[in-house]
Amino acid sequence: MSALSELYEEIALCRQCEIAKYRTKVVPGEGAEDADILFIGEAPGWHEDQQGRPFVGPAGLYLDELLASINLKREQVYIANVIKCRPTGNRDPLPSEIHNCRKWLERQIELIHPRMIVTLGRYSMAMFFSGKGISKIHGTAQKRDDIIYYAMYHPAAALHQQSLRQTIETDMLKIPSLLTQAETVPAAKQEPQQLNMFEV
Ligand code: URA
Repeated sequence: MSALSELYEEIALCRQCEIAKYRTKVVPGEGAEDADILFIGEAPGWHEDQQGRPFVGPAGLYLDELLASINLKREQVYIANVIKCRPTGNRDPLPSEIHNCRKWLERQIELIHPRMIVTLGRYSMAMFFSGKGISKIHGTAQKRDDIIYYAMYHPAAALHQQSLRQTIETDMLKIPSLLTQAETVPAAKQEPQQLNMFEV
């Protein structure tokens, strides 16, 4: 069994947050265990909770299309979320849930060791980019410890807001050249701050 599969077994036993009581399935993440790119969304929705797989609802179908625009299939990347259980009623994740779940994401990053982490939406962005708004930093990258961090809008936001569609599609198209020209990506000036949900 791979180290990531062992980690999933641990995640499936986690009951640290109240929402674990209400989940149908835990959604640890999926994809290539040696993926170059790790996409990190927010939290499972209804479809993901039913299937135990990330991004399988409408936002997921759109993410598949965005991946296809750079000639990638979801099996070639890794897709995870900031939190692994569905927040009841699809509400936003609570700071305590993000805090409790952070250790799982950190272990996934260690095991996958991606060359690039793409944050989808403000919750995952807040974990890796300090104190900035998504409207300012989407489509920009910075490097830290040999990983390129790249911020994008959440695909669901683009589905709900037509004006963001072009933006997210343009941002996606920048990914291949960021990977091939990794040495040109500027180093981050600061370490990411501890999660501060008031700034997302
Ligand atoms: N939105 C997310 O952030 N993650 C999913 O897995 C599905 C929708």
